[in-house]
Amino acid sequence: MAEHQDHLASVVTYYDTHPINEQQIMHALRARGIDLDHLTEDLLKDYDQDHFGGLQATDVLAAKAGIKKEHHVLDACSGMGGPARYIAHRIGCRVTGIDCTESRYLSAIKLSKLVGLETLVNFVHGDALDMPFEENSFDAVIAQEAWCHVPDKARLIAQCARVVKPGGVIAFTDILCTDKLSNGDMRRLRSEMTFPELETISGYARLLELSGCTLLEHDDLSNVWTKVLEDRLLMYRTLAEETERNFGAERAREWDDAYAFFVSRFRQGRLGGARFIARRDRGPVLEDAEEAL
Ligand SMILES: C[S@@+](CC[C@H](N)C(=O)[O-])C[C@H]1O[C@@H](n2cnc3c(N)ncnc32)[C@H](O)[C@@H]1O
Repeated sequence: MAEHQDHLASVVTYYDTHPINEQQIMHALRARGIDLDHLTEDLLKDYDQDHFGGLQATDVLAAKAGIKKEHHVLDACSGMGGPARYIAHRIGCRVTGIDCTESRYLSAIKLSKLVGLETLVNFVHGDALDMPFEENSFDAVIAQEAWCHVPDKARLIAQCARVVKPGGVIAFTDILCTDKLSNGDMRRLRSEMTFPELETISGYARLLELSGCTLLEHDDLSNVWTKVLEDRLLMYRTLAEETERNFGAERAREWDDAYAFFVSRFRQGRLGGARFIARRDRGPVLEDAEEAL
């Protein structure tokens, strides 16, 4: 328990000092001459996403999840709410987001109000391992590049399976390890990227099955993401001065070292990524899939 709280605190610090943040988004919008008093989701959507592959990746995930206007979607680890707002605006569905970093949660609320989406999207400050939602609350659960930060994936998947309706979809993308990843690599990723442990494709497939879900499809995105991450490293370097101004030279240097290391492990095939689309079966769901192991 204390160990988990310490881990959550390190995730919060990581995101409190992340180069992509509300202040940086506002700065980028202003630099483009966008009037913040008349901000719309169509303008904001290109600045507030924090996952790989941008809006197109969210489009693919939403399409594969079969999200429709009448649905209520949960974004499990929603960050500043970029994907939640984008999906709500484009499809017209309701989206709830949960995130453990208070600054991200507050930014999500503020940005959603700024673009007038506060009736379609709402946010909860909380831990995805302990979701304060009734069972069968959502038609779909989505997540993008966030579950790598969550230590107990069995419990996480079981929580998602509990809150999604029978027949509902759990659709997510995540960073994965391969058998080439060394213990030393994992130690650095744990301390520098706050990844406590990483799953594999077969690991997630097993956890989904244990939680009463059927894996409908999965796509290995490792090669695509290697290129995306090379570009992302360059993008972070263009933000280096701003990161230094916001969080100090040491954090800016640390960020660059950690991200360069992360990208190198993708290049070497030690890290990978995939998209998973699973359907919750119609039977009862175990509270914690670990109990079944
Ligand atoms: C890379 S961001 C992704 C945000 C969002 N998916 C997007 O694309 O903009 C990962 C988010 O996961 C959140 N997170 C990590 N562990 C969490 C946990 N146990 N519970 C809730 N949120 C968590 C972090 O606070 C962070 O905002």
